[in-house]
Amino acid sequence: MTHPNSPAAPILSQDELKTLVGLAALQYVVPGDIVGVGTGSTVNKFIDALATIKDQIKGAVSSSEASTLRLKALGIPVLDSNDVPHLSVYIDGADEIDGHGHMVKGGGAALTREKIVAAQSAKFVCIADESKLVDKLGKFPLPVEVIPMAAQRIIAQFAAMGGQATIRLKDGQPLITDNGQIIVDVLGLQIADPLAFETQVSQWPGVVTVGVFAHQKAQVCLLGTATGVKTLTF
Ligand code: 5RP
Repeated sequence: MTHPNSPAAPILSQDELKTLVGLAALQYVVPGDIVGVGTGSTVNKFIDALATIKDQIKGAVSSSEASTLRLKALGIPVLDSNDVPHLSVYIDGADEIDGHGHMVKGGGAALTREKIVAAQSAKFVCIADESKLVDKLGKFPLPVEVIPMAAQRIIAQFAAMGGQATIRLKDGQPLITDNGQIIVDVLGLQIADPLAFETQVSQWPGVVTVGVFAHQKAQVCLLGTATGVKTLTF
């Protein structure tokens, strides 16, 4: 029991929690292997940590131009996903994760390549601060990468489901992804069955990738909490 006069544990900022889980993810990196690397501010912490053991790995398969730039700048070789049929582990963040390892991803617009690299990996290790843990997916606007000519029909299809979809902008213009497509963000969805939802929306013509990761769910989540890194397994 903590003595009433003992100093309280320091309250860690969200950035510090991201650093903690980024570092903790190193334990899942297999020496001599190639690592699948996601995208985002939490993954940036992992990439920085990975650089400290770069001599122990062959390199990385990256899920975005942004991560590729950071990996290369730190001297970590980046390999083409087509040259690496199988990865033992993929490490990435999430916008939301539920108690089954289902996630919403794509806040950084990298969801398509993230799903591709996750699909070629045996294990998905999600790294996130505890604000990302939810009972049910759907609070964070759901990112969907779409082909521009299908955008208005897809927005109408989400409206029919009760969702409000808008095209994501950057500097007043539609944001263009690494794949040359656009993103719609959908608010107000109740994603009660993530597997069924992902299957359904993935079939709409013009949808490149829906940001629900249920088929490519996490097997492990390293969650940054006030009391340290908690490991959830699914
Ligand atoms: C990028 C993603 C990210 O993993 C997600 O947005 C979480 O990012 P962050 O670690 O910055 O909170 O899906 O497309």
